[in-house]
Amino acid sequence: MSNPQDPALDIVIFGGAGDLSWRKLLPALYMAHSHGRLPAACRIIGIGRQAWSREDYARFIDESSPPHVDASALNPSTWQAFLAHLDYVQLDATQAADYERLQATCTPGSVKVFYLATAPSLFTQICAHLDSAGLIDPQARVVLEKPLGHDLPSAQVINEAVARHFKEHQIYRIDHYLGKETVQNLMVLRFGNAIFEPLWRAPYIQSVQITVAETVGVGSRAGFYDQTGAMRDMVQNHLLQLLCIVAMEPPISLDPDDVRDEKLKVLRSLQRMTLADIRQNTVRGQYIAGAVQGESAPAYLTEDNVPADSGTETFVALRTQINNARWAGVPFFLRTGKRMQARRSQIVIDFAQPPFSIFADQQQIQHPNRLVITLQPEESIQLQMMAKQPGSGMNMRPVHLNLDLESALAGRRAEAYERLLVDVTKGRLTHFMRRDELEAAWKWADPILEGWQQMGDKPRPYTAGTWGPAASSALMAREGCSWFEES
Ligand code: BG6
Repeated sequence: MSNPQDPALDIVIFGGAGDLSWRKLLPALYMAHSHGRLPAACRIIGIGRQAWSREDYARFIDESSPPHVDASALNPSTWQAFLAHLDYVQLDATQAADYERLQATCTPGSVKVFYLATAPSLFTQICAHLDSAGLIDPQARVVLEKPLGHDLPSAQVINEAVARHFKEHQIYRIDHYLGKETVQNLMVLRFGNAIFEPLWRAPYIQSVQITVAETVGVGSRAGFYDQTGAMRDMVQNHLLQLLCIVAMEPPISLDPDDVRDEKLKVLRSLQRMTLADIRQNTVRGQYIAGAVQGESAPAYLTEDNVPADSGTETFVALRTQINNARWAGVPFFLRTGKRMQARRSQIVIDFAQPPFSIFADQQQIQHPNRLVITLQPEESIQLQMMAKQPGSGMNMRPVHLNLDLESALAGRRAEAYERLLVDVTKGRLTHFMRRDELEAAWKWADPILEGWQQMGDKPRPYTAGTWGPAASSALMAREGCSWFEES
């Protein structure tokens, strides 16, 4: 419940009328408000270039955001009370003088959170102007949306510029995957239980696969997406963050820097790819027309605002490995794509075969022990084990221990953005990326992106509604592995 003693809070959203704001941020803030997780003296100040009044902005949010709020949580009077917290400042982010209007609107003495949901090219100017207008005090925080740069040098430029005005502990680099319930639960699974950790390493693990598959296409974001591609949009951030949590050493505490130090070590231990590795261990794909879950889907090249000869990838599969004592030799397979057969984010840990089988005349089961952690659409953990088939012979077959987390642990599950926004207001940095982590992720991704360009690599076509190009299965098969849904 909100505490009347809490200091006033101003959440200032640059890009307040943008897609991210009305689809994700305002619905998340509404949920936080309706569960008493925002202080009573909280204002949400949308920033935009439209000549709008406070009422116009509230009307805009009232018209656009409700479909993005869980219908069972949308209470008309709570929603109206939430809208009363909104304010609006018309501001051109490049005009220093406009920031005076913002200064005049902010509550004196409030904790200020500046959420930069704009093109990253504006981050530098926004921070400089906020500073000149006297809006940055030691309590202020800035939230930076991804993508932070398109390669290491551009990320460094942004980080440098922001660091001139905010200290590192005031900077919240958001990766919304770190706010997902099951991603946070993965830390508990690994470090709150004794049974997995001794086996969580080579040689007991044969391979790890991480899939983030989407059924959606690029929709209205083609202009942005075509400049970005799946590697920068998903792999460099969301998939690497998942990999870090799977692979990191136990942190000495949950303090932000203790957790982030361990993730950084993983990123730094990721094998750098040479051109030969890129050729052998990466697959880029682009969807062609097909059908996703019964609905016909156009080819990427015919989507609005996509150039007809675009070479942007909408799918990536790759094999990497972590060169440290725990993981030496264990392949990590990462895969993400748009317009795939099903929406599914999953981490699959394949444990090694028993070292010796006394069941000599049994056919070898490919994955006797497999842990499948599903992040979405449902949250579940499944452990595959071998059991004896009833009857007189010693016949084995795989069985599953299924844990449906949603029914096992009742209770409201906050959406990632709600959880992370509340963390920002409370000054909790654990689930945000530190500068060195972000830069280490680019250091790994850049050679791959450059390699593709150098080799003139063209994405392989895959039919919308499938699991991607055949080469992605071949990548696994070479090492006796297979993607979860294919085995
Ligand atoms: C975003 C990407 O970061 O994550 C989008 O820019 C993608 O392209 C989205 O669709 C996926 O998030 P979620 O939470 O729906 O899995």
